Amino acid sequence: MNHAAPAPAEALYQSGFGNEFSTEALPGALPVGQNSPQRAPYGLYAEQISGTAFTAPRSHNRRSWLYRIRPSAVHMPFAPIENRGIQSRFDETATPPNQLRWDPLPMPTEPTDFIDGWVTMAGNGSPDAMSGCAIHVYAANRSMQGRFFYCADGELLIVPQQGRLRLATEFGIVDIEPQEIAIVPRGCRFRVELPDGSARGYICENYGALLRLPDLGVIGSNGLANPRDFLIPHAWYEDVEGDFELVAKFSGNLWSARIGHSPLDVVAWHGSYAPCKYDLRRFNAIGSISYDHPDPSIFLVLQSPSDTPGVDTLDFVIFPPRWLTAENTFRPPWFHRNVASEFMGLIHGAYDAKAEGFVPGGASLHNCMSGHGPDAQTFEKASAADTSKPTRVADTMAFMFETRNLIKPTRAALDSAQLQAEYFECWQTIKKNFSPDSR
Ligand SMILES: [Fe+2]
Repeated sequence: MNHAAPAPAEALYQSGFGNEFSTEALPGALPVGQNSPQRAPYGLYAEQISGTAFTAPRSHNRRSWLYRIRPSAVHMPFAPIENRGIQSRFDETATPPNQLRWDPLPMPTEPTDFIDGWVTMAGNGSPDAMSGCAIHVYAANRSMQGRFFYCADGELLIVPQQGRLRLATEFGIVDIEPQEIAIVPRGCRFRVELPDGSARGYICENYGALLRLPDLGVIGSNGLANPRDFLIPHAWYEDVEGDFELVAKFSGNLWSARIGHSPLDVVAWHGSYAPCKYDLRRFNAIGSISYDHPDPSIFLVLQSPSDTPGVDTLDFVIFPPRWLTAENTFRPPWFHRNVASEFMGLIHGAYDAKAEGFVPGGASLHNCMSGHGPDAQTFEKASAADTSKPTRVADTMAFMFETRNLIKPTRAALDSAQLQAEYFECWQTIKKNFSPDSR
């Protein structure tokens, strides 16, 4: 008998980040006191999924026990399929030191689901080495039908810009809308439905260490993204049989296997490895209340640490609505060059360092030591602003994927019709103000 449990309407989530969670869609489905009893309740199969090494320190160890109708091994063999817009190699073309900016990806005209709608913009490292990341944009106009997906190459940080997403996962249902994000763990099987009929956004595929919340140092025990605002779904399952497709992203390529049932058949689970969502509007932004503009690390939401202390492989940073109060200060982000490389996107509204050209759904890339910062118009305005009064940067939500390694654009991104060939011009009208006779 095919049976799909109804999606719970409320009390959907548990809260916390990296905690141990326990949840069951049928009462008593979780074994008590042990993980793999000889016979699990309800005739379920016990299966562990590990997202970190077995021996990772307890504070960073992530694994969950899933109690499911069939083990995840039950499917036909995989065969390669077309990768479409997905790339996992970033050495196909020379990386220019130019400042780069793109208009939003147009919405598809052909039926395109979430997986078919990925276009890889840039990245570094490799999934095989489990180091680096890929940055994709997606645009889709139909729900995944009769197919499921998992990414063995990395965890997926999904940043919707337009249209809600329903992520029906092995662990439960995660609904997100623009200004929320979701993290889907490496290996987690899921289906993406589009409640609004179409959707567009960004994905960072993190090949490296799992994203975690940063330490807060002298900020203290509260601030930035608070752990309790991360929401983890309750167990939910569907008991559905049919002729379905399971798509895997594995070693940079897409693979397809037939599967005779929905793999979203986990009736109960417990552990620390699970998808989650977070509302970026809950971020507790901290900044200067005296003078000068702090480094953007003050806006760090999540980090993927490297083996070098203090140096992350990947940072996810946001620029949310906030008050600017610094006196006698150039308040927008300053002109700068970084050892790190920065890929930015705009989810909503306007970004305070650019007067025009950086629009919601668009993207920019400023690589290692490429000079960038406010455009001429923003510089003139901010240099003349009255800084004796606070001002509010409202109606905005920008973000940055920042990495220690060069972010190498794909040839498709460099050849894209959305690339703004004239981007460099936003700095060409910056005036020479220098006068040795006038301080
Ligand atoms: Fe920057």
